[in-house]
Amino acid sequence: MSLRVVFRVSSRAMSSSAFPSLRKRPPIVADNVYDSFASAVGNTPLIRLRDASARTGCEIYGKAEFMNPGGSVKDRAGLYLVASAEEQGLLVPGEPGIIVEGTAGNTGIGLTLAANSRGYRTIIVIPETQSQEKKDTLRFCGAQLIEVPAMPFANPANYVQIAARLARALQEHPDRPCRVVYANQWDNTANRLAHIEGTGPEILAQTRGAVDAFSCAMGTGGTLAGVAAALRAAKPDVVIGLTDPQGAVPVTYFTTGTPTAGAGSSISEGIGQGRITGNMAGFRPDFTAEIDDAAAMRELNALTLHEGLQVGLSSGINVAGAVKLAEKLGPGKTIVTVLCDSAMRYTGKMYNPSFLRTKGLPVPAWLDEANTRFVADGMASAGEAPTAQALLPFDLASVVSKAIEGTEIMSRCITKL
Ligand SMILES: Cc1ncc(COP(=O)(O)O)c(C=O)c1O
Repeated sequence: MSLRVVFRVSSRAMSSSAFPSLRKRPPIVADNVYDSFASAVGNTPLIRLRDASARTGCEIYGKAEFMNPGGSVKDRAGLYLVASAEEQGLLVPGEPGIIVEGTAGNTGIGLTLAANSRGYRTIIVIPETQSQEKKDTLRFCGAQLIEVPAMPFANPANYVQIAARLARALQEHPDRPCRVVYANQWDNTANRLAHIEGTGPEILAQTRGAVDAFSCAMGTGGTLAGVAAALRAAKPDVVIGLTDPQGAVPVTYFTTGTPTAGAGSSISEGIGQGRITGNMAGFRPDFTAEIDDAAAMRELNALTLHEGLQVGLSSGINVAGAVKLAEKLGPGKTIVTVLCDSAMRYTGKMYNPSFLRTKGLPVPAWLDEANTRFVADGMASAGEAPTAQALLPFDLASVVSKAIEGTEIMSRCITKL
């Protein structure tokens, strides 16, 4: 069956033409005029990853979840958590309500936007180690943010445990001003349902049923377990892959039966779960892989340079996992993974040379402040860390100096090159 890619060609034709015309646009969609934020969540594009596909001989696609209105895959969970509270009568639209949640950031953003659109407020408990950009976004959204030191889940000072106790204390408070709900993205399976009803069917529709495999990392597990349930119901032989960052529990648990953390650690955010959540219940992957941060950063950099996609590190881990799964399955398969959120959430971390250096991670040439020049060659080698060499095959400083010669800014500009 031919897979409807952006330009309505078969997957075979797609790989023979690595660079389709930029002018050939997908058909205009007319039925995406919505009455609310809620309807604008989901129906995200599926983008073919040219470089990862070329390397593996498979067709690897990224579900562009960073294009949700709140900027991440977690808008879906946020929406469904609010919807389920309303369905249970715990919140009533138009009447005041407070939603409490512990989150690494993205769920808090999706939850707060969904809450705002229904007239509720949110109180978000977040580990202080999460990116400043996510914390700022939460404040900009109007969330009441409570930053706490990062602690393991078993510790009563862990942010999730604090959020649960805070919700209970508010619910039992004698002066409680309104309804109070604990969202609990971890164990509340409304989270998984968002992907059973949304992400999974979208992938089936977008690939016209031709999806052979799906893989991604687990935070709550809502995305992977939910998409897996939807795909397996439609295609029992679909292969489901789980990719962990280093130091997470899920891969070890599913391969050994013991919920202990794997070796190492990761700077990724939103994934790398430390326990088996309610949203993972009943789920089993067919394939597992652990990806270290250096490998994930190489994929992240390849996404920037080869695809024009600017995303966070969990997306790098997801693409690295999809590549490993492609290598296991062999060429010719259609594999979907998730591009979870945008690089703009991590300008101080994964896109900050000094932060990367403190973590011993590769600094891509175009980010390296010591190297303001650009090279095209050498970059095409798939998955390789770009080296800090000149990227343009000429002396940029002399060209620029010619362009600004005689102007009053000349002395200032030249010193920066
Ligand atoms: C950036 C990012 N990637 C991936 C995930 C994982 O999604 P899920 O919780 O559905 O497993 C999250 C969850 O917060 C996230 O923030």
